[in-house]
Amino acid sequence: MACQHQTSISRLALERAKKVMPGGNTRSSVYEAPFPLYLKSGNGAHVVDVDGNAYLDFQNNFTALIHGYDHPGVNSALMAQIRRGLSFANPTESEIDLAEILCHRVPFFEQVRFTNTGSEAVMMAIKAARAITRRPKIAKCEGAYHGNYDYVEVSLDPVPADWQTGAAKGKAYNDGTPASVLAEVVVIPFNDVVATERVLERHKKTLACVVVDPLPSRVGLVPVDLSYLRFLREFTARHGILLISDEVLSFRLSYRGAISTYGVEPDLCTFGKIVGGGLPIGAVAGRAETMRVFDPSRGKPPVSQSGTFTANPLSMVAGAAAMRALSEVEIERLNALGAQARSQLSAALAASAVGGHVTGAGSLFCVFIGDRDVKDYASAYHAWQQRQRLSQFIALCRDEGILLSRIGLGALSTPMATAEIATLTVRFGRALAKLADTTSAAVA
Ligand SMILES: Cc1ncc(COP(=O)(O)O)c(C=O)c1O
Repeated sequence: MACQHQTSISRLALERAKKVMPGGNTRSSVYEAPFPLYLKSGNGAHVVDVDGNAYLDFQNNFTALIHGYDHPGVNSALMAQIRRGLSFANPTESEIDLAEILCHRVPFFEQVRFTNTGSEAVMMAIKAARAITRRPKIAKCEGAYHGNYDYVEVSLDPVPADWQTGAAKGKAYNDGTPASVLAEVVVIPFNDVVATERVLERHKKTLACVVVDPLPSRVGLVPVDLSYLRFLREFTARHGILLISDEVLSFRLSYRGAISTYGVEPDLCTFGKIVGGGLPIGAVAGRAETMRVFDPSRGKPPVSQSGTFTANPLSMVAGAAAMRALSEVEIERLNALGAQARSQLSAALAASAVGGHVTGAGSLFCVFIGDRDVKDYASAYHAWQQRQRLSQFIALCRDEGILLSRIGLGALSTPMATAEIATLTVRFGRALAKLADTTSAAVA
């Protein structure tokens, strides 16, 4: 099928967008040159662009749409709620339903607080940690993405020259980041116990929390080592520091989330994406004793949370329907498909002249072009030329009717089965062959 789709309507849409949005864009992570595909609709595992081309979608809105598109359970819950009302200035029972579902799934989730995004969930967890410990600093792994709160953006994209040497000095991501923000962030190297301990030891008296993602997408989508997690848990408990597991992306790894599979209990867990059934959401959860920091029933709580659309019933009912449809058996089926995808794509890369590596876990995978062993931020880092090549490959996959995210990340959805993985493998192989051709043509 598909080769070099006709995409003139997407191109025109960008021209229109450029007049009213800077760069024609309102989410930097989806910016694409010369123009992005504008999508019109989705059904099951497929999406259709404004020019009428169909794609097998492994983006699933940055992993959020675990049921793909047009899921009947999510849709009917939403339609019923639309008729009842979109949002209110009072709580609705829909938020209790979703909170109960989540607390029932995860043993250490005794209480939940909802937010509108994963970024906001991370921000609320950090505020909670600061209020509980009365300390200002946070520690995060170099290169790890935790959303757009100023503090967690620190050292999101250090270049090789900035790589940590144990100095734990944060690097600003956005221009204008105050020095005071940088001063409150301690940067640790992912999965490196010795270097991390050296850094944390120096800051232990001023640290409120350590934030860790068990499967950090920008750190190569490499799973956290059990020994690293155990070290973080032990060190933080010993020094009165909170451990926050950021599972906005990785909650899908098991029925009980990501960190539960390691048998390690954090103080707080942040999540979002799949638990909103495709609508905006975020959440913070933990033991009641910790979550008490948000409790307004005895006067102004240590951390007061607001938000016009927090726990809005549309997100709540869509999330509840999505979670009910995501049984333990279904997650295991999806994870087995993920393992199949990783192994077949790895084999295709190994057999090709291009070479490469596939990382990931559960129903997530990430493709790296060129020979490299990806194990941390430094080894996952794309220099400019490597980034160009990855973009070229992702565009070739798109021409074959496969959508991957710009960093090479793929997320499976429940409408997928072995047939979709077989389709992915065949088209991925064709895109690789084209990439190899362009490379040899450039060399010749
Ligand atoms: C680990 C992690 N934390 C936080 C966020 C931010 O979530 P949101 O985009 O909903 O603000 C993301 C988003 O990709 C994420 O992957």
